[in-house]
Amino acid sequence: MPPVMSAAISTSRLPSDPTVTIPEARPAAPAPLGPSCRTLRAGVVGLGHQAREDHLPAIVASEMVDLVAVCDLNTQILDDVRDEYDKPGYTELEEMLATEQLDFIVVAVPHHAGRRVVKAAAQRGVHVLKEKPFATSLEEAHDLTGSCADGGIELMVTLQRRLNPIYATFPHLYDQIGRPFLIDGVYTMSVDPASGWRGQSRLAGGGCIIDMGYHMIDMLLWYFGLPDRVLAQSSAAARPELDYDAEDTACVMFSFDSGLWGRLLLSRCVSPRTETIRVIGARGSVVLERGRIQRLLSNGQVVESLSREGSWPSAATAQVDHFCRVLMGQRPNTSGPESHLAHAAFIHACYASAQAGRFVNPKELIA
Ligand SMILES: NC(=O)c1ccc[n+]([C@@H]2O[C@H](COP(=O)([O-])OP(=O)(O)OC[C@H]3O[C@@H](n4cnc5c(N)ncnc54)[C@H](O)[C@@H]3O)[C@@H](O)[C@H]2O)c1
Repeated sequence: MPPVMSAAISTSRLPSDPTVTIPEARPAAPAPLGPSCRTLRAGVVGLGHQAREDHLPAIVASEMVDLVAVCDLNTQILDDVRDEYDKPGYTELEEMLATEQLDFIVVAVPHHAGRRVVKAAAQRGVHVLKEKPFATSLEEAHDLTGSCADGGIELMVTLQRRLNPIYATFPHLYDQIGRPFLIDGVYTMSVDPASGWRGQSRLAGGGCIIDMGYHMIDMLLWYFGLPDRVLAQSSAAARPELDYDAEDTACVMFSFDSGLWGRLLLSRCVSPRTETIRVIGARGSVVLERGRIQRLLSNGQVVESLSREGSWPSAATAQVDHFCRVLMGQRPNTSGPESHLAHAAFIHACYASAQAGRFVNPKELIA
């Protein structure tokens, strides 16, 4: 049976894992935030869709953190958010970091802007809750891992599914399907593939693989560890009338030395919206959908099913609260820089494979 939560992502164990221990404080860490500490102070950098939909409402809803300041290069967006939340606003991150006493920042900028923002925070010892992806390349992932260590900061990459009980339940059902042989993951939606920075590979670090695909890749690595082989094919051809070069659709095959293998189908141009992972074993299968997980017998009969209504709206607050608890030493960082080197290696392997037309071993990239 393949390893669930392998050593490759050993810092990313499930919340329900009884072996989880609170990590030791790093020697160079900024002043520790003890359990009896005051409410934490946060700034939000990048006030676009994700910040306004998730992070700003989540911080306001949280009892563990105060929204102290906001930052965006775009003055119109900044003015709107500043007015709505009645907080100081900055167009320059450096000025916000120098002026405000912040425990952490939430970073929700376009992918190409992430490196500069994270490094600036690390230099000032300000912790970071970073929107996925951790980095746009393997080189950037190594660079940022070093910067976070040098600055003694915690960085947690936002991955809502990690804090959703439906997804954390997976191993309990998976253990009952016998020897697994196949993983079939599908994540598709229909959006504009040329929209803004997302349509340009140079700015986004790629297309659907690194962007929406990051969630599926995270679950694959969380549950099974880094595969031994990756073979990817992708295209940016679904909307020929539009100007973009970031892949809109990709199919990624992967396999483990154990014999387990599978594929991820990712697309920004396929409807209806679908998010499913099926793992098929000798005695049945587990089917994971958005908000529901089921175990089926080999004949297709559903033997158990778990769904959780309303978990998505609360996921953003659960996430920011979890990060506060990480900073207070009460929870492990389930999504830190070193664990995301595996994600960066997997993604690098996808793009290298698609270009070369052959299998690439992602483990060799971070050996
Ligand atoms: N977890 C999820 O499900 C999810 C969903 C959507 C987006 N995201 C992620 O959130 C991040 C932001 O995505 P979005 O859709 O909100 O993008 P967006 O383009 O809507 O917003 C980005 C904002 O950042 C600002 N910005 C750019 N450079 C900046 C800088 N150097 N300093 C300050 N502000 C800057 C822009 O002006 C813009 O307002 C991306 O990493 C994306 O992958 C995650």
